[in-house]
Amino acid sequence: MTATFSNFARSLTVETAFTVLAVAKRLKAAGKDVVELEIGDSPFDSTSSARKAGVVAIEENQSHYCPSPGIPPFLEAAAEFVSREFNIPAGPENIVAGPGAKIFEQFFCEAFLNSGDGVLVFSPFFPTYLPNVQRRGARVVFSVIRQETQFRPNLKDIRAFVEKDVAPKAIFLNSPHNPTGGITTQDDLKAIADLIRGKDIAVFSDEPYCHMVWKGKHHSLLEQPDMMNQAVAAFTFSKSYSMSGWRLGFAVTAQPVAEIIGKMINTTLSCTPPLVQFAGVAALQEDHAERNETMQKFREKVTLLTEGLNAIEGFTTIDPTATFYVFPNVMEVCNRLGITSHGLAMYLLEGADDQFGIACLGGECFGDAGHGFLRFSCAEPNERLTQALEFLPTAIARKDRIRKYLEQNTHFSLPTPYDCSIG
Ligand SMILES: Cc1ncc(COP(=O)(O)O)c(C=O)c1O
Repeated sequence: MTATFSNFARSLTVETAFTVLAVAKRLKAAGKDVVELEIGDSPFDSTSSARKAGVVAIEENQSHYCPSPGIPPFLEAAAEFVSREFNIPAGPENIVAGPGAKIFEQFFCEAFLNSGDGVLVFSPFFPTYLPNVQRRGARVVFSVIRQETQFRPNLKDIRAFVEKDVAPKAIFLNSPHNPTGGITTQDDLKAIADLIRGKDIAVFSDEPYCHMVWKGKHHSLLEQPDMMNQAVAAFTFSKSYSMSGWRLGFAVTAQPVAEIIGKMINTTLSCTPPLVQFAGVAALQEDHAERNETMQKFREKVTLLTEGLNAIEGFTTIDPTATFYVFPNVMEVCNRLGITSHGLAMYLLEGADDQFGIACLGGECFGDAGHGFLRFSCAEPNERLTQALEFLPTAIARKDRIRKYLEQNTHFSLPTPYDCSIG
């Protein structure tokens, strides 16, 4: 290889969940029993009407190119769905289909950002926001969200960004929030809309967990007056309909923005596979009851994991508000063991036992503000979650193994103790 990589390629950071997943799969292939709580995937089957419609679509040869923004039945079904469920005033002209929600991060950045523009990102954050902002040479401004305020966005920071930044241009909002499980309340959304309305500021409103709100119901920024003109909301079939591998999602936004994103799809992906979109139409129109039952099962898992973790000394988790993640503060444990939080996560997977391991992530995989936390997903059956919970206190008590693991992985030694007064 002689051609040198671009600066962007050399600085590219990735979603650590996929890296840890590779380690977990390798250990499993070598015979280790691993409870996989690292990746935000559903342990359930894709909903049944979606599966049937996908098969029918293949048999009916819906397997050719289609319009870049999506097939009309999909655009109509998605518009009807967000109006009905989330009170978003959308028509088919406001929808663009894509292979999942993640791709819209890139298209949003390409649609609105120029070099040097300021982008407010709440930290901890979903890891792929940063590379997408960096693709455009834009500038990230962080606002820390904290456990003591249920991981809600800090309105003072938003005001300061809008009023004082040299070139404020965009905000990445993610509610319900991965990794923390917090939400932006309806009052917060109203306040955010009031702060940005009429200004040259665009919001990426990332809403993959819209059916996983365990207290109250989901609210979208797009429900607020005029926000359709200033926001791109991203939805996905990955979580609500357990369809992560189909790769299907959609964006909701003002018609001119939808047209621009349609052009971006034209120039990159050409289109989203029509047979997958047909499966999505069936999910949206016919799978409500099954989806709601599955969401209830997730809720039980989150409760099981939260209560189990809170019973372990040194683990403090907020009462779950949303998502299928549990994000305990483990600073005390890390300080006691002299290990970073991602070091602790990797120790639980690799070092704590020869036969058994737990795959999870250190909060720092989601930015510096995640230091001292662990993220567990609920992607395994309940009895496996219980097994993991039972193993945790034993694993943490194995001082000799921790010492050995840190000797072999010195980069996981905690240089200075976490400040436990900051939640
Ligand atoms: C906050 C957030 N945004 C986007 C995505 C990507 O979802 P998709 O599978 O639809 O691309 C995820 C998936 O975990 C997520 O947690």
